[in-house]
Amino acid sequence: MKLTLLPENRVIEFDPAAMPFSEHGKKTSILDVCLNHGAHLEHACGGSCACTTCHVIVKSGDEHLSPMDDDEADRLDMAPGLTLHSRLGCQAVMSGDITVEIPNWNRNYVSEGGGSMNLGAAIPPPKV
Ligand code: FES
Repeated sequence: MKLTLLPENRVIEFDPAAMPFSEHGKKTSILDVCLNHGAHLEHACGGSCACTTCHVIVKSGDEHLSPMDDDEADRLDMAPGLTLHSRLGCQAVMSGDITVEIPNWNRNYVSEGGGSMNLGAAIPPPKV
């Protein structure tokens, strides 16, 4: 499957069966895919549908995302810049190719390496 992130136009190709769960958001969600590939999407609540920092706008492939449940819809209502194609990256589970735009107000938090400004490294440090 393929996840394209705009405006960077970064394409992440992955095999969902071979991808480990990042422990953030739902398995194979947009956030899970991003964190597994070092593409940071802010996720202040850790992917538990309790914030809106993982808000993305789906540009193509809506039909390849899980249906929105009531929890996601209620949370999204609070997101700045809400559109008809808005989703929460931690809740929208991929089943095919999609392209999403990370809104510029969330992009300010984007950093390389998959870390979160609120939660630290996306991949937990090895246990000693
Ligand atoms: S990370 Fe908080 S709602 Fe998605």
